[in-house]
Amino acid sequence: MIPPKPPSRPGRVSLWRYLRLFRQDILSAQPARLYRAWMAEFRTPFFRSYLVNQPELVREVLNERPMDFPKSDRVGEGLRPLLGQSVFLTNGETWLRQRRIIDPAFEGGRLRDTFPAMLDAGRAAVARLDARAGGPVEIEEEMSHAAADVIFRTLFSIPIEHELASEVFRRFRDYQRTQPILNLAAFVPLPRRLPRFHRRRTVRAAGAIRALITRLTDDRMCEIKGGTAPDDLATKIMTTADPQTGERFSSAEMVDQVAIFFLAGHETSASALGWALYLLALHPEVQDRVAAELAELPPAPSFSDIAQLRLTRDVFREALRLYPPVPMMVRETTCPEHFRDRDIPQGSQIVLSPWHLHRHERLWDNPDGFDPDRYGTENGRQCLRDAFIPFSSGKRVCTGAGFAMAEGPLLLALLVKAFRFERIEGDDPMPVAFLTVRSRHGIRLNVSRRT
Ligand code: HEM
Repeated sequence: MIPPKPPSRPGRVSLWRYLRLFRQDILSAQPARLYRAWMAEFRTPFFRSYLVNQPELVREVLNERPMDFPKSDRVGEGLRPLLGQSVFLTNGETWLRQRRIIDPAFEGGRLRDTFPAMLDAGRAAVARLDARAGGPVEIEEEMSHAAADVIFRTLFSIPIEHELASEVFRRFRDYQRTQPILNLAAFVPLPRRLPRFHRRRTVRAAGAIRALITRLTDDRMCEIKGGTAPDDLATKIMTTADPQTGERFSSAEMVDQVAIFFLAGHETSASALGWALYLLALHPEVQDRVAAELAELPPAPSFSDIAQLRLTRDVFREALRLYPPVPMMVRETTCPEHFRDRDIPQGSQIVLSPWHLHRHERLWDNPDGFDPDRYGTENGRQCLRDAFIPFSSGKRVCTGAGFAMAEGPLLLALLVKAFRFERIEGDDPMPVAFLTVRSRHGIRLNVSRRT
């Protein structure tokens, strides 16, 4: 059975209709030809934007010349009150310096230090679900809760139940309702002269979240000074000096980074886990094979135990392929470009679309089907190299990619070992791009204990 895919918009539409469709959902606003095209141009009286879908071009933009294609300021427009000068929004020298300080905390060896905190969060998720087992469960909510718990435990060594953590979690949810990451402004450039006002409610909500995060980072700074700080991600990042300048993050800059780790790190993982569980419910035969792979998994698995779970990892990969949590990314040209016989003026938008690349009909065998075994085939391996960018690629790749590829399979393994997930007839989710790719009306599955 083919997993749910949003219907494409029919044929040509007027600009205004396109904008209206876009506002409802950017996935179904696109024409079907984007699943076959190497490149597409959106030319309107106000702006030009180019969707790039050919592996060579994607590589040129992301891997070969990333500094020539910075993030467009407009993408961060709505997020700036919350994220300030966060690594997600900055460009050039500032961005390079921030990555030099952040990246070491996420390197392979140090991920192993983080693993026990992920495991604790995974076990807490199993315990929560156990209390609900025996009927339908809203899976997206459970996964949001679990992924937020992972972030708080790994970053600050506190569980989601901690008073400050749960307050941050609650306020982030409200904030996202007022300000989605993939806002229209990112794709529909307004003239630069036009002043833009952040809605008062958004600014107030951002201020409240930042005040809470400031309390967390200030407390941590005291613990670092007193020599009592736990060795978690926050301590690692706050004590790392830029190898080139010797400088550390100022308190304000650290608040910006914590805000993005939380925002980029929990919605995305939650989305992928929700879809992975739905895909397993849709394909019970694969779920049985995953359960068989987990039969020998010890109750307290190690980092290497999880790394050996091939099928579990490939199921998570298929969820990232079919429902990439970040469906599209936007860059800007800083000089005139020439792509596929087209002249692209300076200041144009370059849209990279994991959503379309991952389902490209000229690249993938069975592009819309769920098939975790594909990664053992020649086509699957080739596409993994050329047409799989759930974490982006190149210098600006997601800092949490390795983290997420440990977290996802771990949580999936703990959950599938404990429970059976079943589809509810007539209640299939429909993907839609909110902040991340989510189901329009949530994902409900019947959950029962395996033993
Ligand atoms: C399944 C989980 C995840 C997915 C699919 C994902 C995906 C992405 C993508 C596509 C980008 C690039 C966005 C762009 O260039 O416009 C990105 C950036 C980023 N992600 Fe993730 N992410 C995930 C988990 C995480 C986690 C767990 C963390 C941190 C704990 C994290 C932190 C970041 C940060 C800081 C950036 C900005 C990097 C930069 O611009 O230099 N992400 N992520």
